[in-house]
Amino acid sequence: MKKSIFPKDFYWGASTASHQVEGGNHNDWTVWELAHAAELAKTAKERLSSIPTWPDFKDEAQDANNYVSGNGIDHYGRYKEDFDILQKLNMNAFRFGIEWARLEPEEGVWDDEAIAHYRDYLKELRARNIEPFLNIWHWTMPVWFVEKGGFKKRSNIKYFVRFVAKISEEFGQDLRHIITLNEPNVYATFGYLTGEWPPQEKSPISFILVYYNLVVAHKRAYRLLKKAHPHLQIGIAQQLANIQAKRPHDIRDEISTKVMRYFWNWWFYRRIRNQQDFIGFNYYFTDYYRNARKDNPSIPLNDLGWYMEPEGIYPLLLRIWAHHKKPIFITENGVADANDQYRQWWLEETIIAMERALSEGVDLRGYLHWSLLDNFEWKYGWWPKFGLVEVDRKHGMKRTIRPSAKWLAKLLHEFRQT
Ligand code: BGC
Repeated sequence: MKKSIFPKDFYWGASTASHQVEGGNHNDWTVWELAHAAELAKTAKERLSSIPTWPDFKDEAQDANNYVSGNGIDHYGRYKEDFDILQKLNMNAFRFGIEWARLEPEEGVWDDEAIAHYRDYLKELRARNIEPFLNIWHWTMPVWFVEKGGFKKRSNIKYFVRFVAKISEEFGQDLRHIITLNEPNVYATFGYLTGEWPPQEKSPISFILVYYNLVVAHKRAYRLLKKAHPHLQIGIAQQLANIQAKRPHDIRDEISTKVMRYFWNWWFYRRIRNQQDFIGFNYYFTDYYRNARKDNPSIPLNDLGWYMEPEGIYPLLLRIWAHHKKPIFITENGVADANDQYRQWWLEETIIAMERALSEGVDLRGYLHWSLLDNFEWKYGWWPKFGLVEVDRKHGMKRTIRPSAKWLAKLLHEFRQT
């Protein structure tokens, strides 16, 4: 029997995002997918064939259907079945989104059916003793909002705040934990600096405007929610990398490391220092910098070709605690691994790192694995498999719990006994 140092009320759970699982959405990403699917399929080889697992996924990656979220994995219809799975996995927490474009399909017009859906959704989670972690914004937006210029325009923030006010009014009383924004650093970078994601701008000025407007959007959302429901615990889910110098005593590597750590990891948190009750972060990478470029070891790699160093979460936990002294939630963490060959190892190493951090006094309150289910991986489409649970979209969306998830469920059961 494994002895646990995790507190009894520690949140063990999994994460999702509405656009990646629900199916049937109509938002700015849906529009972009349909416009770009054919081109993404055509350019897949030149973009992706250097990934070692290319032979395994090349057929899917060269098929335009891969790039369309479409009917998703029908989580919108099957949420009860999916919550039963969470229970089977011995989990007591779940992170999910409320899709803005469903709630407010037209400017200022609220959809009562969608509201009723999410109300039942919350009720079903509570009925299973699963703590809901609502994520308000996970990148997708109603088309009307994007047509007005999205987050690039300061004057548009009021629309987001109105959406937050609606959430507060409809659901605030039923929630304890709210994440306002998911990974503003990733969104602003890919959408406005590298131009890989919608709206595909490559402009440092747009990037700065968007990033800064997201700071303002968070602060206004925080104040509104906190005023209406002082009991709410509110934060963001930032993407953090464990950034290290490739050559520890090389001045160029040290400088790029320091600059990247400051801007990628810490800048946003510092701006919202007084408007967050907890620090939420997503961890996937350790990145080594040689001069100003990433230079990571070539093994072990996950299915997306990302270098895996799960224990790199430990220094991040210590640093967050040292800087902020606030409760911490790991809001995403996981691995693209279709054959489930690395996931258990990844989880074991991560749990050890969390135990080490807890024993150093870090106030870590929860771990939400990415993801509960295989889902739509943005620009990559359907082929990367992040799920604790496999989903067969070709055969009735059948859900199958992966061996690593069974292992985790058993461990969580043992933890509860000790
Ligand atoms: C995002 C998820 C995504 C995951 C894996 C995170 O950056 O929040 O939406 O699926 O990474 O790429």
